[in-house]
Amino acid sequence: MCRIIAIANQKGGVGKTTTCVNLGIGLARAGKKVLLVEADAQGSMAVSLGIQEPDELDVTLVNIMEKIINDEDVEPREGIIHHEEGIDFIPANIELAAYLMLEAADGKAAFRLEFPKKKK
Ligand SMILES: Nc1ncnc2c1ncn2[C@@H]1O[C@H](COP(=O)(O)OP(=O)(O)O)[C@@H](O)[C@H]1O
Ligand SMILES: [Mg+2]
Repeated sequence: MCRIIAIANQKGGVGKTTTCVNLGIGLARAGKKVLLVEADAQGSMAVSLGIQEPDELDVTLVNIMEKIINDEDVEPREGIIHHEEGIDFIPANIELAAYLMLEAADGKAAFRLEFPKKKK
């Protein structure tokens, strides 16, 4: 069974990337197959996994999202990088910020976060 764990917090510097990378590698060491997907335009996950210049990557989450939204085929391993610690990851970079702004301006959302309404 596939399980998705989202690590999200609006505030920066609270340990999201650190938790994601270490939890991912820990789960891989415990025998799980792990794919980390970075959805932060800063690209810090890619940096912490050894990619020094994420903004120079040719394929990131943006390209994959674009293809899915446009109903184009995505190869099973497209955009996925294997790391020697036994995990796979899809990086993101500054293009994600630009893309989300374009989508917002267009009135279409690439994805939408919904929060539970506050109880009165
Ligand atoms: N459990 C922790 N204890 C101490 N420092 C931590 C811990 N988790 C993360 N940090 C440090 O805090 C800083 C921000 O962490 P980071 O994972 O980049 O946050 P975020 O992804 O939320 O912006 C980094 O310098 C990281 O090394
Ligand atoms: Mg981060």
